[in-house]
Amino acid sequence: MNIDGSTVLVTGANRGIGRALVSAFLARGARRVHAAARNPAALEPVVAEAPDRVVPLTLDLTAPATVEAAAEAAPDVTLLVNNAATHAVGHLLDMDLGAVEDVMRTNFLGTLRVLRAFVPVLERNGGGAVANVISVGAFGGTPSLGGYPASKAALHLMTQAVRADLRPRGIAVHAVFPGPVDTDMFDYVVRHEPAFGEFPRVSPAEVAAAMIDGLEAGEEDIFPDAFAAQVEQERRADIKALERRMTGI
Ligand SMILES: NC(=O)c1ccc[n+]([C@@H]2O[C@H](COP(=O)([O-])OP(=O)(O)OC[C@H]3O[C@@H](n4cnc5c(N)ncnc54)[C@H](OP(=O)(O)O)[C@@H]3O)[C@@H](O)[C@H]2O)c1
Repeated sequence: MNIDGSTVLVTGANRGIGRALVSAFLARGARRVHAAARNPAALEPVVAEAPDRVVPLTLDLTAPATVEAAAEAAPDVTLLVNNAATHAVGHLLDMDLGAVEDVMRTNFLGTLRVLRAFVPVLERNGGGAVANVISVGAFGGTPSLGGYPASKAALHLMTQAVRADLRPRGIAVHAVFPGPVDTDMFDYVVRHEPAFGEFPRVSPAEVAAAMIDGLEAGEEDIFPDAFAAQVEQERRADIKALERRMTGI
């Protein structure tokens, strides 16, 4: 799709990759960017970047009323970017089950909720596109990282299902699988799983630019950094070897 002249909504736009995406969409000529966050006060510096083109929006993936209100407040969206997500650490067999529920409720059900609210908006605008930010973690579950990989694997399969449902309705669905990116989320992971500190990280700006390149090129599955591209190559070559490597970290 063409970003120039488009109207984008980015969830989790107040920090990390989401914030970098807002800047990158502005740089590529988006007409308007709805910057969504659960705490609107955190969006002040984001809006300050281009007050005439960035619209702050309150949206919590787990709060249905905020999602419905956001779909009403942003009726001009042509590209929905489901970026927001949370993490949970611990081994699935003994960690707090509430943390597992939280990560599934946010990353899987919450993303689905936002998608369901915005499909009618995209359709009214003549079709458009959705980009779900997943993770290469969807391809292998590091045992100490609890439910996060499972939530991203669920999001991956949800993305495939809705892609088929939405294609005839004129909406393209893209999946984005970043590798390690230098954000609060990755810092949190490294604190709990020091082995991840060895991985090369790219900046949020780099990943945002590569993701937009993929969207403009019409790629269904976007691997926006070298680490992600390598994981995808390994997955295609030997899926069981990749499982052993990722679960053995
Ligand atoms: N960093 C990586 O290495 C990496 C790798 C692969 C994929 N990803 C994916 O990339 C995306 C962005 O990650 P990031 O690294 O930028 O993470 P981050 O720095 O931790 O930012 C996460 C964003 O999601 C928002 N969020 C969390 N729960 C929410 C909820 N219930 N409702 C609305 N917003 C919520 C956060 O808002 P608050 O500020 O209010 O908490 C924040 O804006 C995520 O989907 C993540 O899984 C990241």
